[in-house]
Amino acid sequence: MLFGETSLFADPDWDLSGIDNLEDLEEKVKQCTRCNLRAGCRGVVFGEGNPQARLVLCGEGPGADEDLLGRPFVGRAGQLLDKILEACGFERFTHVYILNVVKCRPPGNRTPTEMEVAACRPNLNAQLRILQPKILVLLGSAALQAVLNPRGKITRDRGKWVRKEGVFILPTYHPAALLRNPSLKRESWEDFKQVVAKYRELIDPGHYSIHC
Ligand code: URA
Repeated sequence: MLFGETSLFADPDWDLSGIDNLEDLEEKVKQCTRCNLRAGCRGVVFGEGNPQARLVLCGEGPGADEDLLGRPFVGRAGQLLDKILEACGFERFTHVYILNVVKCRPPGNRTPTEMEVAACRPNLNAQLRILQPKILVLLGSAALQAVLNPRGKITRDRGKWVRKEGVFILPTYHPAALLRNPSLKRESWEDFKQVVAKYRELIDPGHYSIHC
């Protein structure tokens, strides 16, 4: 189940099912200590954007800059993400909501463990239940594996839509991967052009972008 909180990890002490708006959910998630990450970071990075947006982007987890500022994707990868969004005619507080698989920074920016992802899963599920995205873009393999397929491979699965519970889901490269390997930018741009086309099809037929 993509958005339900009734899962293998259902926890009577962490029942978010009665929360129906992002503000209340953020208050609750800020109190989360379901895994050890919270003890090693400054604070919870809940997510940001337009709560009414039906296009949601999901990254892996906060890095150092995000932990410092309490906002997702504000470091180098975030600046690149903003440029990609701009090329698509999207603006982060208008057209999208941005969140992460885990809300607390893993030490040294390591990939979150399966246990940490599982612990944070109710938080992510509740965000998605409230946001009700029509389009969900998974940035990188941690998001792909957490949301779609634990054995997913980003190089194989990127650019291919999966429809799950009525949501169109597209895995693509994480912007940090584009910074490490700029030759991936061409494929990434192909993926984002697909996102714009789907946005016009499902959300706003009149959506304007200079580049696509
Ligand atoms: N990388 C992510 O996956 N998320 C962020 O918020 C920042 C960098």
